Amino acid sequence: MSRGALLVSATAMGAAACFGCATRRELPMTTLAPKSDLAEWIYHLFIQVTLWDALILVIVVTAFILAVFVFSTRVGEAAPPSSAASDLGLEVAWTVGPALILLMISIPTVRTIFRSQPRVVPAGSLEVTVTAHQWWWEFHYPDSGVETADELHIPTGRPIFLHLLSNDVIHSFWVPQLGGKRDVVPGQMNNLTLEAFVPGTYLGQCAEFCGLSHANMRFRVMVETPEQFALWQTSEQAAPTPENENASRAISEGAKIFANSPCTTCHRIDGVSKGYIGPSLSHFGTRATLAGGILSNTPVNVAKWVTDPEAIKPGAQMPKLGLRGEQLNDLVAYLESLK
Ligand code: CUA
Repeated sequence: MSRGALLVSATAMGAAACFGCATRRELPMTTLAPKSDLAEWIYHLFIQVTLWDALILVIVVTAFILAVFVFSTRVGEAAPPSSAASDLGLEVAWTVGPALILLMISIPTVRTIFRSQPRVVPAGSLEVTVTAHQWWWEFHYPDSGVETADELHIPTGRPIFLHLLSNDVIHSFWVPQLGGKRDVVPGQMNNLTLEAFVPGTYLGQCAEFCGLSHANMRFRVMVETPEQFALWQTSEQAAPTPENENASRAISEGAKIFANSPCTTCHRIDGVSKGYIGPSLSHFGTRATLAGGILSNTPVNVAKWVTDPEAIKPGAQMPKLGLRGEQLNDLVAYLESLK
């Protein structure tokens, strides 16, 4: 390779490495920075398997290079290579060796799988029922009755036991820094348990192809201190109160538009509607995102979403409402006021 070509390929490798660093900083969907016990078990398993694999690679490559140089015919040598029909010792070795390696890898793997899905709910757990829909996530807390979408709130220092259900096709629950993946299968309850260590927001993504908007089926896990989590849960339990004496005209008008719209068939707002097909909107204004976690929750984005959901999330089941101008702004103001 010429010096110029070497320089070009070294620069390309350097650029690729830097791009990797930048992506990792901005979108830390990495399994290499675990923030829960489950993610740590998976990380250690990965390191363990990688080290065994590296050792095997070194042994195989060394044996290969030695074989090439030690057993090749020298110039002027006419002797044909050895033609031994079989070598029992060698055959036993290359059968037993790989079997032992597979056993060494499978024992910690199977142990980790069983640890992450215990048959009995661990004592003191916070249970959450996770229902996957095309294409959003529903999170229901059976103990408190709280229900939310695309944003799972959990406290640190307490085992979280997730019951995973699907409403339609096979999805997969995956939060790289906290754990997963675990398939979410219609007609079968799977589960996953984890305990988060570090407060923060972690990105999750459906990890099983599930139709048109599979890539738009994101979610966030908000890991909070036990005090923050308790506050959040209490505020979610209370009915939203947008229509107080301070409510603006737009919010009051928006409330009327919502109550008389087909939205009520699909969306629940405590004290207003009982829909259950789409996400509950009871505390919509407190959420950071909408539309399967792909848009940040701003009035402009809500207006775009309501105007044409299909343009943002292909295949979305929500119909266009045909609202425009002031009516649209009023509805958006009302939804954003639901805290
Ligand atoms: Cu749900 Cu992919």
